[in-house]
Amino acid sequence: MRPTGRRLGIVGCGAIGSLVARTLQARRSSFIVTALFDHHPSSASRLQKALRPRPRICKDLKDLVGHCDWVLEAASQAAAPGVAKAAISRRKPVVLMSVGGFFLHRRKLSKLAARYRTKVYLPSGALCGLDGLRAARQGAGLDRVTLTSTKPPKGFQGAPGLSPAQRKALATSRRVRTLYRGPIEGALRRFPANVNVAATLGLASGVPGKVQVLVQSDPRAKYNQHRVRAKGRFGEMETLTRNLPSAANPKTSALAIQSTLALFERLEGFVEIGN
Ligand SMILES: NC(=O)c1ccc[n+]([C@@H]2O[C@H](COP(=O)([O-])OP(=O)(O)OC[C@H]3O[C@@H](n4cnc5c(N)ncnc54)[C@H](O)[C@@H]3O)[C@@H](O)[C@H]2O)c1
Repeated sequence: MRPTGRRLGIVGCGAIGSLVARTLQARRSSFIVTALFDHHPSSASRLQKALRPRPRICKDLKDLVGHCDWVLEAASQAAAPGVAKAAISRRKPVVLMSVGGFFLHRRKLSKLAARYRTKVYLPSGALCGLDGLRAARQGAGLDRVTLTSTKPPKGFQGAPGLSPAQRKALATSRRVRTLYRGPIEGALRRFPANVNVAATLGLASGVPGKVQVLVQSDPRAKYNQHRVRAKGRFGEMETLTRNLPSAANPKTSALAIQSTLALFERLEGFVEIGN
């Protein structure tokens, strides 16, 4: 039987996909998870068992998009553009957690979304202050934006941008280490699972080319921390977000998962708060 409510398909059944699905169910949301896809079928079947009614485990993206009205991508930077394309071209709104994947293909994907008149949602994720930044960019715009992301070393495990020397130093070093300094694109390529916030910040600022990113590892850090400084005609702003890592994945902050839930809450509500 086809469930009433909005049918949600989830690509990626890890920390974010699983907790979002379970919470939507516990909250009796009008978003009902009907389709799952993960390239590790065991992750999809673990989540399937926790949900009622049981969603379909799909064999590929096409199958998933055919069995839902909305799509949530919570897989990887590499997966995000393909998920976005598959959803948009079937006119299914899509929520992308791997914002870096959208950022690297933003021109093509934005054009596609406009052509199919289908929305792409990019949650604030692990970062606060995007409402202020979007207001600040109006009018004369922003002159300078910097992001400093600091995480405990285990948050960088497996990052392709680490040199062998950096990898070794991360395991033993007792001091703060700078792993990257430069533009957003470079940060995304080196730390695809760590700096989605840089992509979100760049898109929200409207001046991605002016955003400078600093990535640091701190063995004493308890938090995944993001400090944003922005300057423009409006004045100056500075935000500091100190996130606890999620229990399921140290690279992912708990707030990022809650941000997705907040987006679904907003989509269901009749009063909008913030710009
Ligand atoms: N926007 C933000 O602020 C923010 C914050 C945290 C994480 N993220 C991003 O969200 C994504 C999910 O994070 P997570 O913590 O749930 O990760 P996770 O590793 O816990 O789970 C990812 C799941 O996706 C699956 N997967 C990976 N590539 C896939 C593909 N091509 N097709 C199908 N399944 C695939 C994996 O098997 C895994 O089960 C990551 O890309 C992460 O970088 C974004």
